[in-house]
Amino acid sequence: MDTPQFKSTENEVQELSRAVRKLALIGAGLKNLNTPGVDPLAAQAVGEAVRKIFGDGIDTLDESERSTLINVINMGFAEAGELLNNPGRSQGWQVTDPVLLQTQGRSSGQVFWRIRALAVDRPLLQEALQGRFLDVGTGVAGIALEAARTCPTLKIDGIDIWEPALALAHENVKDSPYSDRIAISKLDVTELPEAPQYSLVWLPTMFMRRAVVEIALDRITAALRPNAYVIAARYTVPAAPEAAAFTALRTFRSGGEPIAQAEMEDMLRRRGLVDVESDVRPLATFTLGRFE
Ligand SMILES: C[S@@+](CC[C@H](N)C(=O)[O-])C[C@H]1O[C@@H](n2cnc3c(N)ncnc32)[C@H](O)[C@@H]1O
Repeated sequence: MDTPQFKSTENEVQELSRAVRKLALIGAGLKNLNTPGVDPLAAQAVGEAVRKIFGDGIDTLDESERSTLINVINMGFAEAGELLNNPGRSQGWQVTDPVLLQTQGRSSGQVFWRIRALAVDRPLLQEALQGRFLDVGTGVAGIALEAARTCPTLKIDGIDIWEPALALAHENVKDSPYSDRIAISKLDVTELPEAPQYSLVWLPTMFMRRAVVEIALDRITAALRPNAYVIAARYTVPAAPEAAAFTALRTFRSGGEPIAQAEMEDMLRRRGLVDVESDVRPLATFTLGRFE
């Protein structure tokens, strides 16, 4: 005899399970539209199921809009699968699965779109896009490659400590047209040489313990050129308690510690950075500061 608790939990799980399938279907439909040479019968079967949900709206999206949505969906499945398959793994970014590493890389390329959007009304940030960019935690070089693609004179140093990601980063850069402008190195940001050379630094703090972030910021500040920008990112904590708990778990599994927006801004100001501000979006908050 099912208990009321089991029945209500089962109903909720069934409903969520349908939502997962629906998301997969949307992703499948978008991927088919973006992939030439798909078996027409398969494309039709998936397309019909998708149109039942969305009407013909999905056909009006352009290729880049479809790619953006595919990235979001891929990342959702990759991250959720990693949580489900390794629920007991200890804190830290210890991903070895090349598919998840590459998916994360492709998805994080969008970080640079956001940085370029911020540069539109910040002329000194726009200038910084023509100097030397330090991509801390470069992973498989997703951000570094997007930076090179969109900023034709920018030089990029990507550093990381995670060998499985670094191996893929080397391959990705070698296979790209930007290998002359991107250098990938195994380097802990806490050991960054203190030589003023960078015009822009990306620091994803959600992958680091607070003590590491503090040392990283000291080292980074000593490696900045005048007017350089530092952009420190954290997962945005949503107001709803359930969503906030999930964000806390994401930060834990990524290897980070919760850092409040005011604390992050203070960390930059304490290093003498000016024009400190935070750009808050649903997934991640970027805190920016400029070195005078
Ligand atoms: C999720 S990945 C970033 C993804 C990346 N943007 C890409 O394109 O693949 C975060 C990275 O930060 C790296 N990381 C963590 N602590 C670090 C440290 N102290 N110094 C350098 N990299 C670090 C991790 O090894 C991990 O590869």
